[in-house]
Amino acid sequence: MCSVEGAKKLAAYQAVDNHIKSGYKIGIGSGSTVVYAVDRLAQRVENENINIICVPTSFQSRQLILKNNLTLSDLEVASQLDICIDGADEVDCNLNLIKGGGGCLLQEKIVASCSKELIVIADYTKNSSLLGQQYKKGIPIEVSPLAYVPIKKRLEQLYKGEAVLRMAVNKAGPVVTDNGNFVLDWKNFDQSLDWNKVNLDLIQWPGVIETGLFINMAKKAYFGMQDGSV
Ligand code: A5P
Repeated sequence: MCSVEGAKKLAAYQAVDNHIKSGYKIGIGSGSTVVYAVDRLAQRVENENINIICVPTSFQSRQLILKNNLTLSDLEVASQLDICIDGADEVDCNLNLIKGGGGCLLQEKIVASCSKELIVIADYTKNSSLLGQQYKKGIPIEVSPLAYVPIKKRLEQLYKGEAVLRMAVNKAGPVVTDNGNFVLDWKNFDQSLDWNKVNLDLIQWPGVIETGLFINMAKKAYFGMQDGSV
């Protein structure tokens, strides 16, 4: 029986082994599963001498790249990436994703959109048939601080459910993203919504910076399973 941590590692290692080639420019996602992917990249640089360039999707991911002595770059220098490897909070059967549990959705979506392919790595708890079935913390929506109340009200009125301002754990006040914004976690929505339409609608609202709905972006998902398979 494989633990959740073990499953994350299996998925991350297999994705890196199957997809990463020397010469690649790689988007490095954020979250706990990506830590294993960066481990594996560092091992391959050490053992196989592969030459890779890494573009982070958050402060955390930048620190990971630096800590593992990988070559750090950014979209100003490397604006076209070969691949992006990232985790997800939930993956449906059409490879649509909920992301942003760690608050890094904006940079994650930008970096993924600059990559030829987005490969998702996750443990078995993220595997779902309908978005919203597995991940109960809600769809993250990054918003400008001054607009969080009108956006919350509009969202709840139009699409129902509840949009909750994400609060910091060891500090009084809200979570502030790497980009200086707030996050609304939208819960208890109707699971049969057309997510492509919802996403296109929300990103047009003034004050919405980005949504954690990654629709038609991922090419493949690796799930580490309880039985040790991927
Ligand atoms: C970060 O904002 C998120 O999008 C993460 O990629 C996502 O939460 C997955 O994280 P874990 O690998 O820690 O589950």
